[in-house]
Amino acid sequence: MMLDRYRPRYHFMPLNNWMNDPNGTIYHEGYYHLFYQYNPYGDKWGHIHWGHAKSKDLVEWEHLPIALAPSTELGELHCFSGCAVYDGQQARIYYTSIGEGERNPATGAEQWMATSTDGLLTWTKHPGNPVLTSALHGGADIREWRDPFVWREDGTWFMVLGGAIEGKGCVAIYSSADSTQWSYLNLLYVDPDAALCECPLIYRSGDRYVLIYSPGGVVQYITGTIDDSYKLVPKAKGIVDYAGFDGYYAPNLLTDGEGRCVMFGWMPDEARGEFAEIAGWSGVQALPREISLTESGKLAMKPVSELGRLRETHVGERQLIHDREGAIADVSGRMMELSMELDLAGLGTSAFEVGVLRSADGREETRIAIEPTAGRITIDRSRSSLSPLPRRTPVTGNYEAPDGRLRLRIFVDHSTIEVFCNDTTCLSARVYPTLEDNGKVRLYGLQSLEPLTRFDAWPLSVAPSRQG
Ligand code: FRU
Repeated sequence: MMLDRYRPRYHFMPLNNWMNDPNGTIYHEGYYHLFYQYNPYGDKWGHIHWGHAKSKDLVEWEHLPIALAPSTELGELHCFSGCAVYDGQQARIYYTSIGEGERNPATGAEQWMATSTDGLLTWTKHPGNPVLTSALHGGADIREWRDPFVWREDGTWFMVLGGAIEGKGCVAIYSSADSTQWSYLNLLYVDPDAALCECPLIYRSGDRYVLIYSPGGVVQYITGTIDDSYKLVPKAKGIVDYAGFDGYYAPNLLTDGEGRCVMFGWMPDEARGEFAEIAGWSGVQALPREISLTESGKLAMKPVSELGRLRETHVGERQLIHDREGAIADVSGRMMELSMELDLAGLGTSAFEVGVLRSADGREETRIAIEPTAGRITIDRSRSSLSPLPRRTPVTGNYEAPDGRLRLRIFVDHSTIEVFCNDTTCLSARVYPTLEDNGKVRLYGLQSLEPLTRFDAWPLSVAPSRQG
């Protein structure tokens, strides 16, 4: 029997098999719809279909039949990533169609469309596919051309697609009056430091645009404006999540009925390496994040408030026991939320660390470490697992604390860790501890409890639909 101590419980996953990017995320008729890159035949990448689930509250998910399968009779092998839009009458999926031989991802990708009239359940591929081919680019040789993202502005449809040009990552932009006939406008952005840009997204806040993309590593964003020639004029840059393939990649987003923008992301299992204890599944969806833009153009991200429904008995600062190393919190297990605030001046120069997923004997523990002098935060995986197979490199990022305070939220779910720091720094990681984690949460580096101005912890429950 395979141990399922690594399988997340309150995160979304298909019942089995491989999953990667969230696709076509859309809020429609009271439901959040999540499609995802899915291999129904195994736990490795391949035969890419679009899986489908919906939720009323972003916590409980209902699994639905596969939405898109490769049309092998038309030479299609994979339905790569894309988006979904609704024009008031018809829902449309745009995705990248990959086939054999000439239709390879590097030079032969095509953009296809599918439509639905039954509440997003079944999809019919458009008879006029492809709706975009690389012939649109004239002389520009855009390779690895994929992952359409579509939005509407003043009655015009716009699309961005990722790719590579002359060995550099690029995002191209297109427009359409009817959402079927598309023209190429320009290269919206070229990233000289990336070999390719995957899954570009546009998030708008007033007259500011945020371009989010996945450059084969840590997911980036750029805030700015778009000029008359359809070039992005950058103002601020940032990191969506410092994990990359260690825990966060290829996000997608939607705007819901209240105008809230929710971001989804794939937590790959790449970090588990050849760890044989897990079979039959790979890939988890990160906790949905509500995103917004700060005055200075930084992306603010916080887990959606609905996740509060998973909280069980509260553990507060009164239940902290101070000892020589720091403090012990009366909470343990593989599903928890920790939320705290620190006065950095009170902390001085010493590092502050939170230990989670800790075995009773302390041989396994994952630490989230704050280095106040460097403004650095790290998920330290060096002792996460006794097995030598999973990756143990740290996931590290920088935080800003303009008011001298550090607000930290940490979510643990078996093999996932997600850290939100002062709203604008996010780090995720995958870890695979082998021992029972009956050790309590520990806080290290506190001479007294004084700098800890708030501490809350909750064991989290499994979403009821996933019990049993
Ligand atoms: C990102 C990605 C996309 C592509 C899909 C294929 O993880 O490589 O660019 O469409 O996955 O599954």
